[in-house]
Amino acid sequence: MAFKSIVLTIAIMAVLSSISHAFDPSPLQDFCVAVDDAKSAVFVNGKFCKDPKDVTADDFFKSDLNIPGNTSNQLGSAVTAVNVNNLPGLNTLGISLARIDYASYGLNPPHTHPRGTEFLVVLEGTLYVGFVLSNPGPNMKNKLFTKILHAGDVFVFPIGLIHFQFNVGKTKAVAFAGLSSQNPGVITIANAVFGSDPPINDDVLAKAFQVDKKVVDYLQSQFWWDNN
Ligand SMILES: *[C@@H]1O[C@H](CO)[C@@H](O)[C@H](O)[C@H]1NC(C)=O
Repeated sequence: MAFKSIVLTIAIMAVLSSISHAFDPSPLQDFCVAVDDAKSAVFVNGKFCKDPKDVTADDFFKSDLNIPGNTSNQLGSAVTAVNVNNLPGLNTLGISLARIDYASYGLNPPHTHPRGTEFLVVLEGTLYVGFVLSNPGPNMKNKLFTKILHAGDVFVFPIGLIHFQFNVGKTKAVAFAGLSSQNPGVITIANAVFGSDPPINDDVLAKAFQVDKKVVDYLQSQFWWDNN
């Protein structure tokens, strides 16, 4: 009886630990180059796999990340993402990256990646970065961690947490980010809350943000630029 319950406990723990580690599943083969044609493919992890006979080096290749993104927008930032959607060889491998350009005082606004932890490497410029912890409990505040980063500095944004980067310098800034998912996703907080289509009922947002409905209506009438 005792033995059985130990076996059961171990089995349950094994299942739970595999679930808790399953952001992207571990690859089950050398690669699974994503392809849109379902007929010539095997379904794995949201994308089909290209027939390995047809795979070439170009399936694992992307160029032009030396070209700055266009930061002439209201945020003054541009994210150039490299993920499974434009580099098919990443399929099932659990990583992706982004180049982020910032104009002077440009902002990569508060956002989260629902499926990936991010680490950021600053190549040029000075960034004020931060992330906010999830709700700690009744009557406690969400803790904010911030740091000023310079060229060569690295910072980590844990999976799912709201984070931002702000160029506090008078010159442009450039950073690269690595992400622990082939398709980490982005939820830009302001865009999702005030720029959804159709709009969220303004009674909901007025109560949630503890402001007058006019403030909500004003915010909902703005154009929410997506820098991704
Ligand atoms: C950058 O974007 C702005 C605004 O959309 C546009 O006017 C400008 O031509 C773009 N610059 C380049 C180099 O593409």
